[in-house]
Amino acid sequence: MVKNLEYVVVLACIIVPKTSEEEFVMSEPHEAPLIIGESSQVQKVRMAIEKFAPLAAPVIIYGETGTGKELFARLLHSLSSRRNGPFIAVNAGAIPETLVESELFGYVGGAFTGALREGKMGLWEAANGGTLFLDEIGELSLAAQAKILRVLQERVIRPVGGTEDRPVDARIVAATNINLMEGVQTRTFRHDLYFRLHILHVTVPPLRDRQRDILPLIDYIMRKLCPELHLDEPPVIAQDAREKLLGYIWPGNIRELESIVTRTLSLCAGMTELHADDFELSESDVRVPPDILHLFIEKGPLRRMKTRAEDAIIQWALTASDDNQTAAARLLGVHRNTLVDRLRRKNRSSR
Ligand SMILES: Nc1ncnc2c1ncn2[C@@H]1O[C@H](COP(=O)(O)OP(=O)(O)OP(=O)(O)O)[C@@H](O)[C@H]1O
Ligand SMILES: [Mg+2]
Repeated sequence: MVKNLEYVVVLACIIVPKTSEEEFVMSEPHEAPLIIGESSQVQKVRMAIEKFAPLAAPVIIYGETGTGKELFARLLHSLSSRRNGPFIAVNAGAIPETLVESELFGYVGGAFTGALREGKMGLWEAANGGTLFLDEIGELSLAAQAKILRVLQERVIRPVGGTEDRPVDARIVAATNINLMEGVQTRTFRHDLYFRLHILHVTVPPLRDRQRDILPLIDYIMRKLCPELHLDEPPVIAQDAREKLLGYIWPGNIRELESIVTRTLSLCAGMTELHADDFELSESDVRVPPDILHLFIEKGPLRRMKTRAEDAIIQWALTASDDNQTAAARLLGVHRNTLVDRLRRKNRSSR
């Protein structure tokens, strides 16, 4: 049982976004959110979401922080037959261990000192007929994971202090920015829950792997900000600024992009053109994505290491540019002919 004071204090500190009262009474169908992204990587995610939407099984969305996991979860909800029902987002990582059960499953009146006399409905039940978005599922304790697994299997919840199970009907969409399989191997994530969730899965790619989306996203963010900043048109982004923004690695992905564009536009309101110096990025000129860095610490003759690293970087640049060689060469800071020549040599040596 949870103690009165602990409950009140801790409850006041929880950040469970988007579970405000209006979510519970929402009756309008959820409109599909606008998702900017012409790159083939984003189109693939969108296609997977469209296929998953009409099905009943849980969906898990993988992806680094700020890549748009929640946005895709909302898209899935709006495309499903549950679109008239609620979409309840729960940040699983932000609920303290002692409150997971009462937050998710509710409690009956008098379940513990300080509890509401009439009891309280849990978030799972509040999502009935709709979608329950369990964000940061990898952060849950093993005990909480066991309780979630039971609900997924039995489709019933038992409120804290209650003696009877209640049926629930919420579609589960989970998200995580950690590799759950690694969690299974290190025994921090239950393998039975993993296999229960990892059926309909999709990974939202990081922004550095979808160069094509960067400038359209900036344009979209700037246009959204224009009314607030009393601007008729967003400023033009000069070539030097474009190169800087396209070459940046975006560790915080779209959320970072949003904050940098918002800051820049707020500071530069009134300017008709933005240059590289106007955009303050946190790292100066890191162009190599972290997934490739491990190649530099592998042992072996220098020449072979250099070739392997170069191949990997070129492959990354091509993927990130949707196989557009001109864009990939720009990303690598070389002339297109240099890149084409390098690719020819690589093909010859691998034949
Ligand atoms: N393709 C997109 N088009 C427009 N806006 C986007 C897109 N992707 C993400 N955003 C915006 O970027 C921000 C971060 O997205 P979201 O919250 O969905 O990311 P997340 O992956 O859930 O992040 P976290 O891991 O931190 O929870 C939001 O403001 C969202 O609206
Ligand atoms: Mg999120």
